[in-house]
Amino acid sequence: MGTESASLLPFTAHRVQLPDGSWTMEGGDDPLTALSTATVIREAGGSLAGLRILDVGCLEGGYTVAFARHGATEVIGLEVRATNLARCALLADELRLPAVRFVQGDAKELSPETHGSFDVVFASGLLYHLDDPYGFLARVQPMTQRFLLLDTHIAHPTAFAHGCSPRLASLERDGRTYVGRVAFEYDSALERPALDQLVWASYGNPTSFWLTEDSLVAMLHDLGFASVSKTFVPRGSAVGKPARGSVARSTSPASEADIRAQGATDGGGATPSRGWSASVTPSTTGSAASERSLRGSIAPVIVRYLSATFVIRSPAPDAAARAPGPTDESRT
Ligand SMILES: C[S@@+](CC[C@H](N)C(=O)[O-])C[C@H]1O[C@@H](n2cnc3c(N)ncnc32)[C@H](O)[C@@H]1O
Repeated sequence: MGTESASLLPFTAHRVQLPDGSWTMEGGDDPLTALSTATVIREAGGSLAGLRILDVGCLEGGYTVAFARHGATEVIGLEVRATNLARCALLADELRLPAVRFVQGDAKELSPETHGSFDVVFASGLLYHLDDPYGFLARVQPMTQRFLLLDTHIAHPTAFAHGCSPRLASLERDGRTYVGRVAFEYDSALERPALDQLVWASYGNPTSFWLTEDSLVAMLHDLGFASVSKTFVPRGSAVGKPARGSVARSTSPASEADIRAQGATDGGGATPSRGWSASVTPSTTGSAASERSLRGSIAPVIVRYLSATFVIRSPAPDAAARAPGPTDESRT
């Protein structure tokens, strides 16, 4: 490995073994054995052979590579950040898996015409980084032949955490109202080079919208997906992460400054989800009103999950005609 490639190590999240036996990082997630990878294989009927998979927001490409190593016929890793794509390119160079291709692109601009259609769309740790989840899911729906896997944070109806607004907000789309919380991602004054270095965060939207579970399921239904099922991550499992920060219960309004303050505390909304759960404790960052309403009222409540993996099936598996493949311009 050259000096330039070596400077891309260690990775920030994906632990992948390279041909010389070394690993891209210590700790981290092992996408080869991760629960979401196993879920995709299970939902595909036990084998990825013959399947075309899109990994949207692929970060360092660990999952893209894992699907290929598990036998997928073609896997495209789509990622918006050049910094992350450089690490994807390192994996591609080292592993030389013919099924894998990495593409630079924005999830907000996905289209069947440009990117093609896929048996499986894998969107892990992405949905809650978008300010228009409806627009994203509406674009993905016609691209999904069999199922979409979403591993995502969801907004708790009565508690907030992780840079989310204490107050529930609504999102109006196509005459329908969806409910969730606005989450702080990064300072809108940030220049592109600095934004590129926030490797886990959103891109082009300084705030994102976290749907409640009910609204997410309703939205998927409204967009024409056939069914939604949820995978619970057992607490203490290898893929679970310890709770971070506190979770506060409140229906009181809070200012954008409150959201930003809590986002900064939690690291700018940049943490991948993967099934952590948290005990509820009073917030130290919410508004004074919400602090007052909390005291003494919420001691030992356990929020079983603030994130989950959803498998969403397309209405007519294998029936829709395949759209053309990606254009050369969109490839890296
Ligand atoms: C929390 S990370 C999750 C990474 C990976 N999918 C995983 O589960 O480990 C979010 C990823 O989405 C990417 N991302 C954020 N907004 C995006 C967008 N609009 N288009 C494409 N990728 C985006 C980020 O650059 C980052 O790689």
